[in-house]
Amino acid sequence: MMDGTFNENDLASVVEADRAHVWHHLIQHKPFETKDPNIIIEGKGMRVWNQVGKEHIDAVSGGVWTVNVGYGRERIANAVRDQLVKMNYFAGAAGSIPGARFAERLIEKMPGMSRVYYCNSGSEANEKAFKMIRQIAHKRYGGKKHKILYRERDYHGTTIATLSAGGQDERNAQYGPYTPGFVRVPHCLEYRAFEQDGAPVENYGVWAAEQIEKVILAEGPETVGGLCLEPVTAGGGVITPPDGYWEKVQEICAKYEILLHIDEVVCGIGRTGTWFGFQNYGVKPDMVTMAKGVASGYAAIACLVTTEEVFDMFKDDASDPLGYFRDISTFGGCTAGPAAALENMAIIEEEGLLENCTAMGEYMLGKLDELADKHTVIGQTRGKGLFLGAELVGDRETRAPADEKMVQAVVADCMSQGVIIGATNRSLPGKNNTLCFSPALIVTTSDIDEIVTAVDGALTRVFG
Ligand SMILES: Cc1ncc(COP(=O)(O)O)c(C=O)c1O
Repeated sequence: MMDGTFNENDLASVVEADRAHVWHHLIQHKPFETKDPNIIIEGKGMRVWNQVGKEHIDAVSGGVWTVNVGYGRERIANAVRDQLVKMNYFAGAAGSIPGARFAERLIEKMPGMSRVYYCNSGSEANEKAFKMIRQIAHKRYGGKKHKILYRERDYHGTTIATLSAGGQDERNAQYGPYTPGFVRVPHCLEYRAFEQDGAPVENYGVWAAEQIEKVILAEGPETVGGLCLEPVTAGGGVITPPDGYWEKVQEICAKYEILLHIDEVVCGIGRTGTWFGFQNYGVKPDMVTMAKGVASGYAAIACLVTTEEVFDMFKDDASDPLGYFRDISTFGGCTAGPAAALENMAIIEEEGLLENCTAMGEYMLGKLDELADKHTVIGQTRGKGLFLGAELVGDRETRAPADEKMVQAVVADCMSQGVIIGATNRSLPGKNNTLCFSPALIVTTSDIDEIVTAVDGALTRVFG
């Protein structure tokens, strides 16, 4: 499927320029002294090609669960081009045609929500939610209700404040000191409940939510302003919420007047088979942040969406010069983002990709379960829609996590077969043992068979 422009000789200079000057994310560069970095030069549908023309099927949508509608979508590129020629940028104090149109379309998909604030990364959107919670604390509660709760194993971004709200200790390590005012609550991974003191076998979901209440009571409810949670924890091990969890969480937030901020940076725009992950669980958030799938990586765009109630708190006193949301996002004013997001959303609707996501997610989970029947190293499979995981263990009885090096060897083996999968990576000390699968929402049964066959072979080679 390469388009004829591929020329290994030209690309040799690209590889050298990359090796000499590019600092890649989340990777140790020493090995690049003796081997080439991977340069992805073309993509179409589910597949990408690298600098030596090797074809890969991408089971992780661009590495970090982003390209929900697949590669090579000309209509998105055309819409972005047309918009850029007409009007590329103006700062967000003014509006834009795609900004207004996309906000309207987005809110149609989010009953109960009302306002869209544009910015350009998931971390930035989450920081803005934190700032709103802090400002509300100052405006309404004399600054006291300023603490923000976050959950063990969740991730909310790469900046110092979002790392301070980060439940993944390996991601955070060496980047302290952290920002004060963030407080951790326990995770809700039932498979590892036995490691949590006092966790019951029955009604685990309610118990896990009650642990949040315990933290609130210990901190003092009058000091807690917000609770930030992923609907399905992504990079922290693909954690689907246990039964009864969300109902109880919602109840607790209402009881103590705590704003519920759902981080949909991964799950937002289709990844779990609904527009948003929280919609699987009947949750009513006050704030929702989203980024990756909003424009499938065709442009950088993130959104913080709030209820009208939250919005009103920032316009209720026009005489107060500090009373409104005094935040700036330079690139929140780029029009490429909403222009791409409009097309991305139209593609999902026209091609029935939410339905495909649900159907293919079930098919893939079934296939992973078949693998688990064959390979005892798979301790548990789990996930929602097309965000799936297989937790690898050294021993099914004790659930001792599989050695991280072996988990990475499975990923590397798949890569050598031309199949790109993921694994929890530098997130939890001793627990980077979950394989991750998040193919584009266009994936077919034959693509899934190809991916799962590769994993089967890799597990056999690595674990016997
Ligand atoms: C749940 C979640 N929130 C926030 C972020 C941060 O997004 P970004 O990398 O766009 O800043 C990520 C990134 O992986 C994420 O997984």
